[in-house]
Amino acid sequence: MAGLKPRLYDLGMKPLEKSRIQRIRRSIAGKASGVVLEIGSGTGANFPLYERADVVHAIEPDPAMREASILRAKGAKIPIQTYEAKAEGLPFADNVFDEVVATLVFCTIPEPEKALQEIRRVSKPGACIHFFEHVRVDNKQGALLQDALTPLWEKVAGGCQLNRNALKLIRESGLAVVEVTPLYKGLFQKIECINAK
Ligand SMILES: C[S@@+](CC[C@H](N)C(=O)[O-])C[C@H]1O[C@@H](n2cnc3c(N)ncnc32)[C@H](O)[C@@H]1O
Repeated sequence: MAGLKPRLYDLGMKPLEKSRIQRIRRSIAGKASGVVLEIGSGTGANFPLYERADVVHAIEPDPAMREASILRAKGAKIPIQTYEAKAEGLPFADNVFDEVVATLVFCTIPEPEKALQEIRRVSKPGACIHFFEHVRVDNKQGALLQDALTPLWEKVAGGCQLNRNALKLIRESGLAVVEVTPLYKGLFQKIECINAK
């Protein structure tokens, strides 16, 4: 599956970022503190928004996306270290992160169950895990439409699964879900969790 093109991704996201997504990103990245892990950081859209973190360790498997993010990391207010790695095999020791940020990424990770177990492993007991994801909608017709569109969409959008039920996967992973905020008429969700291990 071909990866996303960094410039096209940023261009395509621009109208959405302006309308609301920047505010949602800020409400997550702007509040994350301590030693933070970001999963699938793409072009680094969250990087300028971190304010309170001591340091952010950001993993991204696509070399072109990571390359684009390095420029954004240079302009960030806090130190950001990027790694070429997949969420299914995080290059970190157990229990090291205070918070984890994952935005618009669980739709694309090929093995989300494995990635969630890795997040549980590397984050401290009681760590806050923040997700912002587009999700499978909660009505039958809409979900069927997402099922129909996904085979084509994944080819043009770097493997993105329009119909993935992120909340279900997160609940099944053993993370404690503390708050779910539906956004954009239920097409997106902000999901706040605690690593209760
Ligand atoms: C839609 S982009 C979102 C980028 C960024 N998180 C954002 O909020 O703009 C999805 C990202 O997930 C990355 N990705 C794909 N497979 C992954 C994996 N196995 N582990 C971590 N990230 C992955 C892609 O390379 C891409 O950068």
